[in-house]
Amino acid sequence: MSTTIGLDSKKLEPVAAGLNQYLADLGVLYIKIHNLHWNVEGPQFFQLHEKLEEFYDQTAEQLDDVAERILTIGFRPAASLKEYLNVAKIKELDSKPFGRDEVLKEVTQDFTYMLAESRKVLSQAEEADDQGTVDLMAGFISGYEKTLWMLRAFNS
Ligand SMILES: [Fe+2]
Repeated sequence: MSTTIGLDSKKLEPVAAGLNQYLADLGVLYIKIHNLHWNVEGPQFFQLHEKLEEFYDQTAEQLDDVAERILTIGFRPAASLKEYLNVAKIKELDSKPFGRDEVLKEVTQDFTYMLAESRKVLSQAEEADDQGTVDLMAGFISGYEKTLWMLRAFNS
């Protein structure tokens, strides 16, 4: 069946599922980055505290963009922390002090995962001729790639 945006809704089902998985990961990541932002300690506190704020702001924007994309293609976004925790593969951390190395390790690992997930959703969207989602994911991919380069540069 064709949607109001001219795409095949049957073909969009796996895209919506992929986007909902992505949304759940962003929901958990948003809180997790706050944890790191609050609990980071050490000589680079100010730099890392500020950078982590930038990261959770970006994550919040992505969360909203992904949820609205799901609605745009005719599906319903998951919208509760309970659902996010059930589905997300991002692992939360306890509230405790984090040193610089641990912060860098956690964000590098999670952004690497989100990058791989972005590529996965992009491929699913290509299969459904859903260029809007392809475009959204392409933007996220170049963003994560750039952030990962900066994290490597900061860490060397
Ligand atoms: Fe803050």
